[in-house]
Amino acid sequence: MTLRAVVHGIGHYLPERIVPNSAFEETLDTSDEWIRTRSGIERRHFAAEGQTTSDLAVRAAQNALDDAGLQANDIDALIVATSTPDLTFPSVATMVQEKLGMTQGFGFDVQAVCAGFIFALTNANALIVAGQAKRVMVIGAETFSRIMDWSDRSTCVLFGDGAGALILEAGEGAGTSEDRGVLSADINSDGRYRDMLYVDGGVSSTGTSGKLRMQGNPLFRQAVEKLTSTAETALEKAGLGNADVDWIVPHQANIRIIQGTAKKMGVSMDHVIVTVQDHGNTSAASIPLAMSVGVAEGRIKKGDLLVSEAIGGGLAWGAVVLRW
Ligand code: UT7
Repeated sequence: MTLRAVVHGIGHYLPERIVPNSAFEETLDTSDEWIRTRSGIERRHFAAEGQTTSDLAVRAAQNALDDAGLQANDIDALIVATSTPDLTFPSVATMVQEKLGMTQGFGFDVQAVCAGFIFALTNANALIVAGQAKRVMVIGAETFSRIMDWSDRSTCVLFGDGAGALILEAGEGAGTSEDRGVLSADINSDGRYRDMLYVDGGVSSTGTSGKLRMQGNPLFRQAVEKLTSTAETALEKAGLGNADVDWIVPHQANIRIIQGTAKKMGVSMDHVIVTVQDHGNTSAASIPLAMSVGVAEGRIKKGDLLVSEAIGGGLAWGAVVLRW
C-alpha cells in the first residue's frame, strides 16, 4: 500500500472587473494587436478597490469545499501560494482559515512567485505522504495588479488577479503510475537569475512593497527550456513518458511559451489547457485556475494524467505529475 495525495475537490474565483487589452491603448503606446500576438492575452480580471488576496482565496476555497462536499474544519492544513499577501504578516493562509471558519489544523504561505502553486502542491503531497495531514487545501491566489508599474507597457499589460484552490486527501494506492493522486514532483531554483524577474521593494530593503520588473525576452528563452526539462524529469520520476500525458496544465504566462513547451514535448495543443487569453498571467493562481476551468468544461476527467509546469521569479521552476 502506498499513501497518495488524491484530488478531492477544486474551485476558483475571478474578480468581477474584466479589463480588455483595448483599455491600455488609452494610456500607453501599445495595442490590442501587440498584446494578443506577443502574449496571447485578450483580457484579464482585476480585483476591486479594497479587495485583497485573502478575499479572492477564500472565495476559491469555498468553491473547492462545495465541490468536495466538505466543511472548513474537515481540512487539516491549508497552504497558500502567493507573492502578493494582504500584509507582510500574518500569512494569507491564516486569514483564509479565519474567514472560512476553520478553527483547527494549520496554515502557511509559500512564496515561489509564478512557480508557487507547484511548490505548494509538492509540500502538500509531502505532508500527506508523511502522515502529517489527511486533507490539505492548496490555494494559489494573487493580486498582481497591486505591484504593476502602470507606465511600463512591457509588464503591466501581462498580469491579472485571481485564485484557485485544490483539495487533496490521503488515499491508498498500489504504488504504480496507474494510481490516482500526485505521482511525482520536480522543483528547482537558481538565484543567479534574480534580475530577470523581481519586485523592486520590500520590508527590509526599501520599506515599500515595490513594483514588478521583468526582462521578458531572456526570461522567455529560459522558460521554454526549463519548463520542458522539468516536466520531462517529473514524468520520468513517475515512470511515465510524454506520450502518457492526457493534459498539460501549464502556468499561463504567454501562449507562445505554452505552445513552445508543448511542441518540444511532442504533445498536441489539443491536450493543453489554455486560459491565458481570459486571465492573463495570474502568477501562482494560474495553474489551479486552469485546472478548475478544465474540469468545469468537462475536459479533465477522473483518471486523466496531468502534468503541470511553471517558472517565475528567482528563478524558481518545477512540475508535478498528477493522475486526476
Ligand atoms: O510568469 C513568469 C514568467 N514570465 C514569463 O515567462 C514571461 C516571458 N516573456 C514573455 O512573455 C515575452 O518576452 C513578452 C510578452 C514579455 C515580450 O514579448 P517579446 O516577443 O519577447 O518582445 P520583446 O520584449 O523582445 O519586445 C519587442 C518590442 C520591443 O520594441 P523594440 O525594442 O523592438 O523597438 C518592446 O519595446 O516590443 C516592444 N514592446 C511593446 N510594444 C507594444 C514591449 N511591450 C510592448 C507593449 N506594446 N505592451
